[in-house]
Amino acid sequence: MANILIAYYSHSGNTRSAAEKIQKITGGNLFEIIPSEPYPAGYNAVVAQAKKEKENDFYPELTNNGNVKNYDIIFIGTPVWWYTMAGPVKTFIKNNDFEGKVIVPFCTHGGGGASMTYEDMQKLAPKAKVMSGYTSYEHSANENDIKAWINNLNL
Ligand SMILES: Cc1cc2nc3c(=O)[nH]c(=O)nc-3n(C[C@H](O)[C@H](O)[C@H](O)COP(=O)(O)O)c2cc1C
Repeated sequence: MANILIAYYSHSGNTRSAAEKIQKITGGNLFEIIPSEPYPAGYNAVVAQAKKEKENDFYPELTNNGNVKNYDIIFIGTPVWWYTMAGPVKTFIKNNDFEGKVIVPFCTHGGGGASMTYEDMQKLAPKAKVMSGYTSYEHSANENDIKAWINNLNL
């Protein structure tokens, strides 16, 4: 496989765990997307803040925007927040140039599935080729499923 970056945001660890499994399988470089202002740890507080941010189409500032320039394939992982990707992932996509790149999305959710996550990624990066995503419930991402998914993509 070509040069691979695995960029992810995780609030409570589930998406991080999926990202680490993908890293192990692909040998790509891991990049954690970190908002400058950490989100509150408490569930109700973060749910309320994320709702407000979604309503305002807010792009939270990141400690580091990363750089996808040297990569051909960028896995992008996010928890599903209010039926789409989390705010920090929106910022990461908006602040990088995905022209000619392949995005391989993945997400973890709490029961509602990926919802609009992958469609919204394609909207934010219209020039990228967005592949079929890997969607897992909470911390249930599993190495065999991830291997099968990646094999099917023929990257
Ligand atoms: C702010 C917020 C919004 C959420 N919205 C959804 C949702 O719309 N659909 C869903 O299935 N799960 C939702 N969840 C649950 C998370 O997607 C799920 O717990 C995910 O695995 C968390 O990933 P993380 O541990 O990497 O942060 C939400 C959780 C939070 C904190």
